[in-house]
Amino acid sequence: MCKVCLQDFSLSYQTPDMEVTAIAGVNLNIYEGEFISIIGPSGCGKSTLLSALSGLNKDGEGLIRIDGNVGYMPQQDCLFPWRTVMDNVLLGPELHGRYSPSDKAYATSLLEKYGLKDSASKYPRELSGGMRQRTALIRTLVYGADILLLDEAFSALDYQTRLKVVDDIYSIIRQEKKTALLVTHDISEAISVSDRVCVMRGQPGTITTNISINYPKDMSPSDRRQSPDFQQYFHLLKEELQYEQRN
Ligand SMILES: Nc1ncnc2c1ncn2[C@@H]1O[C@H](COP(=O)(O)OP(=O)(O)OP(=O)(O)O)[C@@H](O)[C@H]1O
Ligand SMILES: [Mg+2]
Repeated sequence: MCKVCLQDFSLSYQTPDMEVTAIAGVNLNIYEGEFISIIGPSGCGKSTLLSALSGLNKDGEGLIRIDGNVGYMPQQDCLFPWRTVMDNVLLGPELHGRYSPSDKAYATSLLEKYGLKDSASKYPRELSGGMRQRTALIRTLVYGADILLLDEAFSALDYQTRLKVVDDIYSIIRQEKKTALLVTHDISEAISVSDRVCVMRGQPGTITTNISINYPKDMSPSDRRQSPDFQQYFHLLKEELQYEQRN
């Protein structure tokens, strides 16, 4: 089943002296349980695409169909520093005035399952970067999101932490059977998590190529990085990106 469907989708920004067409003619279908990444040069319209899918920007034209609840994880984890981990995780139901014992039970079970049980009453400043990212992801799950949009969600982390966090977040997304769209500058990261990588070019932004990445779903991002095919995917995507930047 198609969870996200964009057909001939465009979005322009109105600036004081001109209209900027950020993306144009974007076609994208994401199916249930798929993990898609988008790579492309800075300014090509990746965040614009996510802001349209998240509903934050409603100025787009063309067909946009979303079947499910969207959860958006920006680059910074956006946890509230004055709230504990548990209170951060329960923010969604609280804001919607439908806080129930079952929300708390679900939150508790996810915190326990993903190694944050002992941190439930801690504040974000007491957590590592990876723990904060996991808390932010659990918050979107408790909110009821089944389509996750991740915009450079790991780029604030140092390299070693990032590898570990990507493994953890990937495993949570797969275990909870979510559909995910990751924007990243990092070709290796895209290959390590995706079923498919979309390459974008800019001015105006559009998706030019889709490359299927064929690994078993239960293979971790770290194990993919060690596999013999990994370098081939890397070179293929690097060439695509360079081609788009030259033309
Ligand atoms: N609020 C805005 N008003 C006007 N123009 C904007 C606005 N936001 C983005 N743009 C323009 O739209 C284009 C796409 O921007 P966007 O932020 O989507 O790119 P990006 O691919 O996410 O870049 P990066 O990789 O640097 O995050 C750029 O030309 C940018 O200058
Ligand atoms: Mg961006």
